Amino acid sequence: MSTPPYSTSVRVIGTGSYLPEKVLSNADLEQMVETSDEWILTRTGISERRIAATGETASDMAAAAARRALESAGVGPRDIDLIIVATVTPDMLFPNTACFLQDKIGAVNAVCFDIEAACSGFLYAVETARHFLASGDRRTALVVGSEKLSSFTDWEDRSTCVLFGDGAGAAVLRAGNHGRGVIGTVMGSDGALAELLNLPGGGSLHPASAETIGLRLHSIKMTGNEVFKHAVRCMYEAAVSVLERHGMTIDDVDWIVPHQANMRILKAVATRLGDCWGKFCVNLDRVGNMSGASVPVALDEAVRGGRIREGHTVLFVVFGGGFTWGAMLVEW
Ligand code: ACO
Repeated sequence: MSTPPYSTSVRVIGTGSYLPEKVLSNADLEQMVETSDEWILTRTGISERRIAATGETASDMAAAAARRALESAGVGPRDIDLIIVATVTPDMLFPNTACFLQDKIGAVNAVCFDIEAACSGFLYAVETARHFLASGDRRTALVVGSEKLSSFTDWEDRSTCVLFGDGAGAAVLRAGNHGRGVIGTVMGSDGALAELLNLPGGGSLHPASAETIGLRLHSIKMTGNEVFKHAVRCMYEAAVSVLERHGMTIDDVDWIVPHQANMRILKAVATRLGDCWGKFCVNLDRVGNMSGASVPVALDEAVRGGRIREGHTVLFVVFGGGFTWGAMLVEW
């Protein structure tokens, strides 16, 4: 996908995030499956992750993150005319989670829908919102990544249950003639590799039944080492592609906000890009892989922590189930 010929630019005017209170440490996981803090830390870089309360939904967490983003943007809920939620863990198959979120925050003027692109979802949602805003069709968008992965984790599968966490992040986007904002985006997908990372049960292929429950089809399945290789290659190539397209190099980038699946993936991408590890905004160690919520939570932490500031160039780079991937350059 190339940069559209819009004269207006689209920028993020506020961010927010929410993490549930409950912490699940590697030591806690040692009591649940045959694993060790040492294995998890060296293979993934994760020390702990957050787990949503029983009854707390993706839209509840989205609402908490959204309220903080609206407050930081100085925008009221009635000013929002587009809501896009990126999630693989919706409250239910339908209505979409964005509609539940709309109701919870009182954004009565918004058009609402979800985007499902797994861990790439937030970038896909921001890019979609950008086209709505830059074309003049909508004025102010709320884009949220929210995941309750703990509801779709097989807590007896040590190869996946140590990886995931719950949380939500949000951004308010607005079009204007300010010259700053999204510089450009590249995105890609490969449906031939869907088997390597998916959640097979509960859709029209494997409708919920006693059999699908018995086969444990309602939780995330992943061929981790294969996914690992594709993640490194796709994230690296997407980053290089968006930089080249805009005549930039990694030296022009102040901060990199990546999807956070595994510390070894991030370090491999950093090495290939050329010794830029110090530019990576990382929270994986504290929150695990939150799929579509990873990027907006890391972004909000970097903005509130004073790292990402006005005038900085930020590179987002993502990879997830589908497969889906992408990279986006933003002048903050
Ligand atoms: N504790 C102890 N041992 C374990 C655990 C565990 N939690 N999990 C697996 N092992 C064992 C395996 O059984 C295997 O043992 P064996 O050699 O006796 O068969 C051994 O450790 C090695 O297993 P691998 O799967 O080869 O381990 P790897 O180093 O690849 O790490 C991991 C696994 C962490 C999953 C890694 O492959 C990874 O991060 N993959 C990419 C994840 C990713 O990018 N996901 C994309 C986004 S997610 C989304 O879209 C929802």
